[in-house]
Amino acid sequence: MLEGKNVNLRIVEKEDLPLVADWLSNLDFFGEYNPLMQMSKADLQKMYDNKPQDEGWFFMEKKDGSKIGNISHSSRGRTQEIGYAVLPSERKKGYCSEAVTVMVDYLFLSKDIARIQAHTDVKNEGSQKVLGKAGFKKEGIVRKTAFFWGEWRDACLYSILREEWKEPRILTKTT
Ligand SMILES: CC(C)(COP(=O)(O)OP(=O)(O)OC[C@H]1O[C@@H](n2cnc3c(N)ncnc32)[C@H](O)[C@@H]1OP(=O)(O)O)[C@@H](O)C(=O)NCCC(=O)NCCS
Repeated sequence: MLEGKNVNLRIVEKEDLPLVADWLSNLDFFGEYNPLMQMSKADLQKMYDNKPQDEGWFFMEKKDGSKIGNISHSSRGRTQEIGYAVLPSERKKGYCSEAVTVMVDYLFLSKDIARIQAHTDVKNEGSQKVLGKAGFKKEGIVRKTAFFWGEWRDACLYSILREEWKEPRILTKTT
């Protein structure tokens, strides 16, 4: 487990997959700025079993152990890409900004990578604020990256370079 101040990141285990499948197909949790997803538990299980070694799926957990969101990372060559979502009832409390900061610490401490990046819908103000708070810079607009809610959507590409990160901001302990 990766320990933060108010939120910890805990690896998603096989037995957690039904909960993840429910979250991913819930429009309130995932759907506003992301492609609509209907994934069977069997398909999710297949994805989980076949995911590459340098890909990670984590829950965001409050200090009382309750699961309030998810955050993942996956490899794009010498870059890691992250994605995340928080339960509607737990938004705007600072949890995602902290979870992203912990994830950035973890990835730069554990992997020989030059950068971490995230794509976020141009209209997703909350996600762009999260990335800014975690030290990411906006690189530009990537046009027509996804189709959802009946239209092609543009995304902003954000990144943080190893030299901009410099040192861990939150992560001091793993258990
Ligand atoms: C985007 C999301 C992850 C933000 O999570 P969160 O835990 O609410 O983020 P934080 O509490 O760390 O918020 C960081 C800042 O953004 C602001 N913010 C959060 N949601 C916002 C919104 N919808 N509109 C405007 N500002 C918002 C917060 O108030 C905070 O600002 P502050 O530091 O000035 O107070 C969450 O809204 C979510 O899960 N959305 C659906 C899934 C999604 O879009 N994921 C991202 C895909 S790239």
